[in-house]
Order: sequence, then structure tokens, then C-alpha cells
Amino acid sequence: MQIEIVKDYEALSKKAANIIASQIVLKPQGVIGLATGSTPVGTYKELIRMNKEGLISFSNITSFNLDEYYGLGADDDQSYHYFMNENLFNAIDIKKENIHIPNGKASDVGAECTRYENRIKEAGGIDLQLLGIGQNGHIGFNEPNENFEPLTHLVNLDSDTIKANARFFDSIEEVPTQAISMGVKTILSSRKILLLASGENKAEAMYKMIKGKVTPKLPASALQLHHDVVVIMDEAAASLL
Ligand code: F6R
Repeated sequence: MQIEIVKDYEALSKKAANIIASQIVLKPQGVIGLATGSTPVGTYKELIRMNKEGLISFSNITSFNLDEYYGLGADDDQSYHYFMNENLFNAIDIKKENIHIPNGKASDVGAECTRYENRIKEAGGIDLQLLGIGQNGHIGFNEPNENFEPLTHLVNLDSDTIKANARFFDSIEEVPTQAISMGVKTILSSRKILLLASGENKAEAMYKMIKGKVTPKLPASALQLHHDVVVIMDEAAASLL
């Protein structure tokens, strides 16, 4: 695990965008795994700038998002699909047909999960997967559990996660209670992983992820088993290390 501690969120966003941009320059037809939430927003702003300035092109990039709320369609302004359009896709030259996000409206969830796994395989696997981390140590929506859920699956969200994500909704009752998420094996199958963490509220999870033992009770600890993980965190997220 390569650990980079930077001063603040702005420095984190610039560094993360530079790593993703390098990957795109090295492999313009590559496959990038993307995340939602507050953490990658600054990174996406930087990538949009680089794209506008002609430094990188997404025109041959394929993307796969980690997760989507179950029950929300792409047009719902609380869906992760909508979030990605607003915060990245609408502002860059990626082709719509190359964007993949689990379908939160799928009537047959099991079939949707299998379809998603197959699409990742058909695309040749993920070259670089971007991750945030939950305060409870989740990656994607792999919540603390008794065992690791390997593949894309339907998850019951933890009450902690629902509380943390309520900031994006008018009330906590509106936060979906389930999501479709890549599994831990799906994430670990990526050739390279880039995890970002910002703020003191992530410090405990970061400490356990790096210094603790590998356990499904802290899903991000599974990243200790991967051979090419870069972690970028700001000083606040690194404060317990
Ligand atoms: C998002 C995702 C989640 C978030 C995590 C942190 O697609 O899978 O694991 O990365 O909940 O969220 P923020 O960045 O909002 O603190």
C-alpha cells in the first residue's frame, strides 16, 4: 500500500486527478472505476478542467461506477447516476454508451448484478478503481459484516450509512435503505486501486484500514490484500496514524 498524506482536500483532489489523468494518458482506451459521495467531487472538477484544456480525453474510456441506490432511476436527482452526470459526465467527452452504473430500477436484481459483473469482464476488467471510504470502513456499499460479499449484490445499508448520507436528502426517511454494489472481490480484481479519504471523521476508519487486521467488520481492510493500492488522505484523515 502506497500511502500519501497531503495537507488538505484541495491537495488531495489535485493529486488524485493527476493519478487518474496519468492512467488515461497511458491507456486512453482503458477502464476506470468511479465513486460517488463528497470525496471525489474535487477530483472530478480537476479532471473536467484537464479535459476542457485538452490534456486528457475520455472519448475512448469506459467507466463502471461502484454502486447505485436500489429503487432510484437514472433521472431521479438523488440517484448516483444523476450525481455522476452532474459532477462529471455532462462536462467531459465520455461516450454515453461507455458509462456503466448498476440499474437501481432493475426488476430482477439478481440478473442485474450478474449482468454488471459480466459487463466488467467483457470490458477487460477495471484498470483503475477510485474509492472513498465510509466512516464505518465500507468501500462501495460493502458494509461491515460477518463475511466479505464477493460479487455485485443487493445490500441493506447500515443505519450509520443512512445517517451519513441523509445530508444529501431533505429528510432521513427519504434515504434509500438498499443499494446495488460491486462486491469486495469485484473491487480487488481491479488492476490498480486509488482510495481517497478527507476529514477527521474518516480518521478511525483509516487507522483500522491500514494498521488493523483484515476483517469483513472493516471492509476496507481487504485492500491490504491487493498488490497495487494508492491511498491519498489529508492530514485530518491521517490524524490517528
Ligand atoms: C460511493 C461509495 C461510498 C463512498 C463513501 C464515502 O460510490 O461507494 O463507499 O465512497 O460512503 O462517502 P463520502 O465521500 O461522501 O464521505
